Amino acid sequence: MPGPSYDASIMSSWDKLKGKFIVLDGPDGAGKSSQLQLLSEFLSEQQLENLMVRDPGGTRIGEQIRKILLSKDNGEMSVRTEALLYMASRAQLYGEVIAPALERQKCVLCDRWISSTYAYQAVAGSAGAQMVLQLAEAGLERTWPDLTVILDLPSEVGLARVGHSPDRMENKGKAFHQKVREAFLELAQTRADFRVVDGAGTIEQVHQRLREVMAGYVNS
Ligand code: TMP
Repeated sequence: MPGPSYDASIMSSWDKLKGKFIVLDGPDGAGKSSQLQLLSEFLSEQQLENLMVRDPGGTRIGEQIRKILLSKDNGEMSVRTEALLYMASRAQLYGEVIAPALERQKCVLCDRWISSTYAYQAVAGSAGAQMVLQLAEAGLERTWPDLTVILDLPSEVGLARVGHSPDRMENKGKAFHQKVREAFLELAQTRADFRVVDGAGTIEQVHQRLREVMAGYVNS
């Protein structure tokens, strides 16, 4: 008589990503957007319903906040204002899009999350981890995703990939972006729900590495 173990044996291990909130984060130019797209296509081929979103942005309100954050006209913006605006866009994204998708058992693939505010504002921008994490705990429905994968790349390689019209954040200089990279790696070392993937090589090579990390997560 087929019991629960029979059901479990026919369930693809990728099904373990149902209702999971997965973030891909890392320095500018690391290739997150392309990798997220490839991962989404791969998971769809495995019959796993998934949704790709980006932070900041992903909602009508969030996209307006994103414009303010990235506009080169807003050079005088303080790091505290930055942290608050990133958090505001994120709060809207979670409530309006992410939470309902997770409730419907979709796997949500998100480009950046709190790890970025930690690396860019708390560490590189010197706002401090306490300020950023307390803000997140107080203002967000959810601070930490189920899994955060850091796509790592030397900051000079990433910035060279960004090209000729960098936005306000990309324009912050080499030393800032070096600190951002180090902060991502340090955060990943302190958290069991983080993984690091080497972003060097071809898009296909990086995709294979990301798939291996995801397979390790679903089979753990
Ligand atoms: P994107 O280019 O990955 O869409 O991200 C927009 C820029 O905003 C990028 O330079 C990283 C920066 N950023 C922060 O400084 N803090 C944050 O919390 C987030 C989500 C992004």
